[in-house]
Amino acid sequence: MELFDSHAHYDDERFSEDAEEVIQSAYNSGVRYILNAGSDIASSRKSIELSEKFNFVFAAAGVHPHEAAKLQNDDEKTIIELCNHPRVAALGEIGLDYYYDFSPREVQKFWFSKQLSIAKDLKLPVIIHNRDAHEDTLEMVKSHAPFEASGVFHCFSGSWDMAKELLNLGFYISFAGPVTFKNAKKSVEVLRNMPMDRILIETDCPYLTPEPFRGRRNNSSFVRLVAEKIAQIKGVQVEEAAEITTGNAKRLFLQPISSS
Ligand code: NI
Repeated sequence: MELFDSHAHYDDERFSEDAEEVIQSAYNSGVRYILNAGSDIASSRKSIELSEKFNFVFAAAGVHPHEAAKLQNDDEKTIIELCNHPRVAALGEIGLDYYYDFSPREVQKFWFSKQLSIAKDLKLPVIIHNRDAHEDTLEMVKSHAPFEASGVFHCFSGSWDMAKELLNLGFYISFAGPVTFKNAKKSVEVLRNMPMDRILIETDCPYLTPEPFRGRRNNSSFVRLVAEKIAQIKGVQVEEAAEITTGNAKRLFLQPISSS
């Protein structure tokens, strides 16, 4: 079985001691592709470094809404430069987070919009983070549509109505550990309705550890538990869920890389 962890953070300080060992052991357990998402300039650089060390690790470069307030105008050039690196498969993660509001909302929107435009110019898929900002996120994505290289809403927490709009815009939707939690009713409903060819799986490690390991540090090998849950909801074998979600992620992230 070949799994694709479409969203990980091995540049996180919780992996500062052992990122490379954890990545290698995830590979040995069947995780054949990992996309490491950037959250600020420094972490995007680290993401690229990791992708240069492991041929099955790919990088995303971009600035998370939490970090948007730290950006200066000329960081736009740096983001473009990072995105042009040959191991960068996507721009992200970017978006809006009104749950924590670590950056003022106007600043979050400014950099979200700017990075959506950069992704379009570079024909890179986008990785979108949205927490408690469904309406504004949808509105901004719509105002920048169409996205030729598509993108993904990671760790999706919205309703089926929102998912439908995203599917119509050509986006993929990714699910993480929370679908295994007891209170995952809304995501389970979305998954029941989702076409298989638009579902991605991820860990978002070190965060969002799935059951039954909730509370421990997450790692890519646990993406199998997300695949198992999806298989259960969709009534298919886990091998089939793995094969389809891996194929989806390869189509979204890796085609531009192999054809360039
Ligand atoms: Ni993330």
